[in-house]
Amino acid sequence: MISNFEKLKKQEAIKVLSDLHNKGDFDFLLKLAKRFVEKYPGNVNGLNILAIANKRLGNFYKAKEIFEFIIKQSNKPQAFLFSNLANLFFDLGKIDDSIVNHKKALEIEPNNLNSISGMGLSLSEKGNEEEAVKWFKKSYKINPIDDGINFNLATSLRKLRKFDEAAFHYSKSKKRLSKSFQLECIYQSSSKSTSDFYDLVDELNAMPLDPLAACLTKHASIRYSKEDKYSFCSEPFKMIKKYSLFEDNSIDKNIIDDFLEEVEQSKISMKHQSLLNRGIQSAGNLFLLESPAIIKMKEVIHEKIKIYKDEFSESDDGFLKKWPNEFIIHGWLVVINDGGNLKPHMHKEGWLSSSIYLKRPNKKSDNDGDLMFSLHGADYETDGISFPEKIYEINEGDIVMFPSSLFHSTIPFKSNKKRITLAFDVIPIN
Ligand SMILES: [Fe+2]
Repeated sequence: MISNFEKLKKQEAIKVLSDLHNKGDFDFLLKLAKRFVEKYPGNVNGLNILAIANKRLGNFYKAKEIFEFIIKQSNKPQAFLFSNLANLFFDLGKIDDSIVNHKKALEIEPNNLNSISGMGLSLSEKGNEEEAVKWFKKSYKINPIDDGINFNLATSLRKLRKFDEAAFHYSKSKKRLSKSFQLECIYQSSSKSTSDFYDLVDELNAMPLDPLAACLTKHASIRYSKEDKYSFCSEPFKMIKKYSLFEDNSIDKNIIDDFLEEVEQSKISMKHQSLLNRGIQSAGNLFLLESPAIIKMKEVIHEKIKIYKDEFSESDDGFLKKWPNEFIIHGWLVVINDGGNLKPHMHKEGWLSSSIYLKRPNKKSDNDGDLMFSLHGADYETDGISFPEKIYEINEGDIVMFPSSLFHSTIPFKSNKKRITLAFDVIPIN
């Protein structure tokens, strides 16, 4: 195919490229798309596929450059180009730019499903769930059996605490974590019973492990005094590890300053979120940015993940035995100001979670600004039972690593300096 690709007619060559895209062979797609674009330099379909191949291989800025080029050179750009560019801005955490481009796509083609769903995702990312639900319901009307549409609609409904409606839409989605989110909705719904909950746990036991199901079954096991048979992590407090990145010379204060400077320069969006009191966090994945200190930090993280895994090499927990073969590191900054804190939460999409303390104001009282772990959070019902907790003392340059199923929170602090954390998740790729 490589040798005679140039001899194919234009439509035949586009077909070859589409087939490679559907197969997910993006390395090969990139090579052939480059050759196609050399032969047909202004061809919109060819350039679009070249941009998509770049995006799928993680070359986000190259993809952005190509989309912007196609739009600039077209007299009448088609809706899908703005829609694709908008999705790219979303991935880069530039949510306002994403909304602007989805709106342009919808002006040209009001029923563009990609942009209707994209508007929902962007508004949800900005914390506006009521508006997000309106967009997702519009896309659900167009395609009620789509996994992604049902999942996204369910997620915004769950955040609005409409648990029964959310459980229904999760049940219609086959996306990863759908069943665990459905379990969470059942656990929080006043109209569902304990046996509804454990019936679904039985189904989850036969599926790949995830931290949300682990967190829920652990919580329920304490609340209902039942054995936790889910095999993710039997004793999560024992799996918390703290290392000082300053003491082992992995990083120093200069790298932290360079890192923060590079994030600032990237103009990545910062957003508020309901759990974060007097603070903001970055949108998208910081590790998609390609600058020296960010790359260095990612290398340090990979080394520490290896060390963490080695420490627990004897463990029988599924968390270690079924460690994902392939994963990405998804990172974001959490900036908290004087008097602020981050309420208890766990990382549903993750596997292993971690925080690196980049700036940590001096303590004024016992545990201010420290990290608290708990088996309770997310406003789950406790039936008056108290759940175990553990506090970790935090210093600048520390990294704390733990199973994503554990609830954690920040103890409020007083200072005129900001507390800045780089949080990240190891996220399995299916
Ligand atoms: Fe967190």
